[in-house]
Parts: sequence; C-alpha cells; structure tokens
Amino acid sequence: MNLAATTTVTFRHPELEDGKEVWELIREIDVLDLNSSYYYLILCEYFGNTCMVAEVDKEIVGFVSGFRHPEDQQTLFVWQVAVAASQRGEGLAFSLIDKLLESEECEDVTTIQTTISPSNKASHALFEKVARHVGANMEKTVRFLPRMFPGTDHETEQTYEIKPITRKNENRFSI
Ligand SMILES: CC(C)(COP(=O)(O)OP(=O)(O)OC[C@H]1O[C@@H](n2cnc3c(N)ncnc32)[C@H](O)[C@@H]1OP(=O)(O)O)[C@@H](O)C(=O)NCCC(=O)NCCS
Repeated sequence: MNLAATTTVTFRHPELEDGKEVWELIREIDVLDLNSSYYYLILCEYFGNTCMVAEVDKEIVGFVSGFRHPEDQQTLFVWQVAVAASQRGEGLAFSLIDKLLESEECEDVTTIQTTISPSNKASHALFEKVARHVGANMEKTVRFLPRMFPGTDHETEQTYEIKPITRKNENRFSI
C-alpha cells in the first residue's frame, strides 16, 4: 500500500525549530546513533536544504539528513534516514529521498553517497530501490570499521555510491 494514497503526507526541508522534534524521532526509533539535540538543530539550521522531513497531521514522522560532499558539491551524502515505526512499509523512506532529489535545492546532485551496516537489510533495500529508480549503479567504496568507533559496539559502516543519477522529466524526478 502507498501511504500517500491513504494519508496526507507533507514533505519539506526542515528549519531550526524542527531540530527538537527530529531529535525526538531519532530517540524514539532507538536504532540509529542518537546524536545530541544541538547536532539536529545545526543540521536543520545550516543543512536544511539537503535534509527533508515528512509530516502527517503536523507531526514529523520521517527524516532524512544529508550534506554536500566538501570536495564534490554534486555529491549528496545521505546520513540518517528515519521513519516512525507506525508509518513503515508504505514507501515513506523512499519518498523522503526522492523528494529531496526532486527539490530545487538538490537538482544538480549527480551522485549519492551513503553508508549501510551489513545487518541493516531495510536500509539496503531502500538504497537499492533508489538506485533502480534513478537508473544508477550502486557500488561499494570505503569502509568505516568497528575499531574506528570508540566506546561503542558499532558495526562496519560500508560506504556506497549511487551514480550517475539521471533525471526523467525536465531535470526533475517523478514518484
Ligand atoms: C529503514 C527505514 C527508514 C525504511 O523506512 P520505510 O518507510 O519502511 O521504507 P520504504 O517503505 O520506503 O521501503 C523502501 C524499500 O525498502 C524495503 N524495506 C523496507 N523495510 C524493509 C525491511 N525491514 N526489510 C527488508 N526490506 C525492507 C521495501 O520493501 C522497499 O523496497 P521495494 O519497494 O523494492 O520492496 C525504516 O525501517 C527505519 O526508520 N528504520 C530504523 C532506522 C534505520 O535503520 N535507518 C536506515 C539507516 S540510516
């Protein structure tokens, strides 16, 4: 079932005031690394153009964070993708990434980079779907190894690149 067909979902770039609610969403999900509330405030204030939130009844139920690669501005590093447990399995995570790529602020993006833990099957499936949708390959590059994460029992984070991204309609995506 497609969430958009039954529920009104609003997608938009986050602003400073959303940082608190985004932090609460990540805390609630309890799977991703919970960064400080200040981190999410900074993301929303300074990197909002490369992030996206999904709202249902004015409540944030989905979030994707991203930033442009410092040495390649056309590469979008997609960091955390989070969907509230009650809204999963209905295409929301895919739509968050699709809407982000579709947004005017990211229309020049040609490559997505992300990292995926080997055990995170949902994340794998999500990014494979994104790669299929944009007609791109998904290739492994560098790795963030467990020994690099101090003080935690952290899995390897395998970096993937999805490129080249092709736009289907007048430089924009359609869902
Ligand atoms: C991963 C997550 C964001 C997916 O959100 P979602 O809205 O349910 O995902 P979508 O409905 O858009 O699904 C996208 C694709 O992934 C697949 N998928 C989603 N959850 C899956 C799961 N648990 N196992 C296997 N595949 C899964 C879907 O089937 C779909 O692929 P398909 O259309 O080819 O069948 C969500 O489960 C979540 O927030 N998990 C906790 C945080 C996390 O692990 N984030 C990812 C790493 S940053």
